[in-house]
Amino acid sequence: MSSNIAVKPAKKISGRVKMPGDKSISHRAVFLGALSEGLTEVENLSAGEDCLRSIKAFQNLGIRIDPVRKVEKESSSGFSTQSNNSTLKIYGQGLSGLKEPVQILDLGNSGTSIRLLLGVLSGQNFCTVLTGDESLQNRPMRRVTGPLEMMGAEIVGREKGNLLPLVIKGGKITAIDYKLPVASAQVKSAILLAALYANGETRVEEPAKSRDHTERMLSFFGAEVTVNGLRVGIKGKPSLSRGKISVPGDISVAAFFLVAAGLLPSSSLEIECVGLNPTRCGIIEALQKMGMEVTAEITSEDFEPRGNIKAAGSKLKGITLKGEIIPRIIDEIPVLLVAATQAEGRTVFEDIGELRVKETDRIQSMTSNLIKMGARIEEENDRVIVIGPTALKGTTVESFGDHRTAMSMIVAGLIAQGETTILNTDCIKTSTPLFWENLSRLITF
Ligand code: S3P
Repeated sequence: MSSNIAVKPAKKISGRVKMPGDKSISHRAVFLGALSEGLTEVENLSAGEDCLRSIKAFQNLGIRIDPVRKVEKESSSGFSTQSNNSTLKIYGQGLSGLKEPVQILDLGNSGTSIRLLLGVLSGQNFCTVLTGDESLQNRPMRRVTGPLEMMGAEIVGREKGNLLPLVIKGGKITAIDYKLPVASAQVKSAILLAALYANGETRVEEPAKSRDHTERMLSFFGAEVTVNGLRVGIKGKPSLSRGKISVPGDISVAAFFLVAAGLLPSSSLEIECVGLNPTRCGIIEALQKMGMEVTAEITSEDFEPRGNIKAAGSKLKGITLKGEIIPRIIDEIPVLLVAATQAEGRTVFEDIGELRVKETDRIQSMTSNLIKMGARIEEENDRVIVIGPTALKGTTVESFGDHRTAMSMIVAGLIAQGETTILNTDCIKTSTPLFWENLSRLITF
């Protein structure tokens, strides 16, 4: 049964808050923990269903992964989908310790799980069948299966290995030099993970810098990684281990809180212990450029910089966002579109075609919802122009089964006149199970 969320107009958001563990970094912690020699204890892991999919996949590949403390409500993998975050122990078996799974691995809605897993499975001398939910079955995999085939993996699937379900048989992997046609951390990461199984050095080059969590964590776990601008090199056959790792708060979840703070006058918000990796912080730059009072301070750095953000209600102006910043705000564009409806003048988003191949077509999902609420938006191919400010009117809108569309529309509901109902909000659980509970606690209605 799917649920809806009804949002009333808000006056302000205020207080101090911590974010759940970063989803992207959590996936990588599970992956590298499973490929490590011995135990890895991961703190502050994302409790989203996507991350549970990665955990379940490695359990099916023969890796023991246990929650550290008791959780309120358990899912089939033994982990909570209700609490904000969890701690777990991963009993890694080294690069070659995975076992051929009996089950079909179902990665649900999670693009990161499936694409990174294809990289790891390229190095395994056995056969695995992979699938996902309806959304994932329609997302392009050729961008990953193409380079992995060049490295030696055998992959069969619909549309010549572009669409799930896929069957992969790995084994003999050779190092490659590869230029990515699009800036994608998932593709880059899949190649870097496959490269762990090759002799010699694999090099990947991106057209623009995407999130670099995989490079950072691989290096933290002992792999030899070199970064030179847009190029990353990795030497194969390392021995990985770390022991303990703590996941910073999720900046992509913080983005919804920040935009709410920016749009609700007299708001004053502090977000603590959040990831401040420059390849993810485009949201702060974009909001500052729009005129928002928002500052970030790095307080510590081990493998990932982390710190605090302060934000306050502000008057926003329209700007242009294009080029190299786009991969650094790729998951925040939906909520930036909400911010843009309240900015004075035109806000132009260019080079955002990648949004069309996310959990849903996010250009379509966001523009149709916001137009229904009264926003002025022009959309064509990989460009969207928002003309503001317009007063949004509460109405019924859709999540389109996409967690970031749902959460962005909740923020739109907070600044609208009258009540807004967002339909089918169950999808929020894929990344941020307690999103509405945690956001609404800080709001004065
Ligand atoms: C992610 C990379 C991005 C992002 C996704 C998470 C990751 O996707 O949109 O939510 O964890 O590597 P692409 O690599 O397809 O751009």
